[in-house]
Amino acid sequence: MNSFFKGMGAGVGLRPCHYSEFLNHKPKSVSWVEVISENFMAWKGCEIGPAFKTLQQIRNDYELGLHGVSLSIGSIDPVDKDYLQRLKDLIERTQPRTVSDHLCWTGVDGYNVHDLLPVPYTQECLDWTADKLDQVQNFLGRQILIENPSSYIEFKKSDMTEWEFIAELIRKTGCGLLLDINNVYVSSVNHGFDAKTYLNSLPHAAVGQIHLAGHSVGTNGILIDTHDAPVCDQVWDLHRWYVQNFGSVGTMIERDGNIPEWSVLESEILKIGEAYNEAPLITL
Ligand SMILES: [Fe+2]
Repeated sequence: MNSFFKGMGAGVGLRPCHYSEFLNHKPKSVSWVEVISENFMAWKGCEIGPAFKTLQQIRNDYELGLHGVSLSIGSIDPVDKDYLQRLKDLIERTQPRTVSDHLCWTGVDGYNVHDLLPVPYTQECLDWTADKLDQVQNFLGRQILIENPSSYIEFKKSDMTEWEFIAELIRKTGCGLLLDINNVYVSSVNHGFDAKTYLNSLPHAAVGQIHLAGHSVGTNGILIDTHDAPVCDQVWDLHRWYVQNFGSVGTMIERDGNIPEWSVLESEILKIGEAYNEAPLITL
């Protein structure tokens, strides 16, 4: 699992409003960036666009993670080979340290709902998802990371917990885990489980990257994973607890709404390092 961000310190989800900061000032507060894969994947037969050329320039100075939103690994649709080929082309062009997507489904029968929807945690779904994940990793010729979701509903048919499902998916496929601690917190509040029980039960050696983000509060107190606010104190506390108990894994902040100027976001990123400084050196 040497392609992970273990021991890599702080990163950030790179968004266009901060491109000039990275091109002109090369901030030292992060050593790696993550971008959304689909924003840089070329369409078949088309020339690569200016956004990709910007990414190439930034890639010269930073390690890279590619984070997808369209794999739809939990859908009953078969694996989309055209999508995978475009992703493979991007991987070959950018040589990322990690390639990741979500434990979710985003549509069915070719229809894309543009949302990350939860799957039922059943043996049938586990077997199906693991089979698709095997196909994906074989096609790409590399291990990928799967991110735990945030969710607002649960399925009555589920017969295992989310953390049991994820642990078994990792055991069956050898994939890694992109641990989103805000997603754990959001789902723990929405569904009434203990976030530390979830985090404690994970296969820690497989955790190759950590996401932190802010969320918002919807009607009836439901938490919604909106990425439009600073990381809340409870999520910072869980992050500090996780790295102190299970070792420092490269951690980044995702911000997709109300994105502040770089200096403001950077001051939040510096808090990641504070957690590492307090953490013992643990290698799993
Ligand atoms: Fe995330």
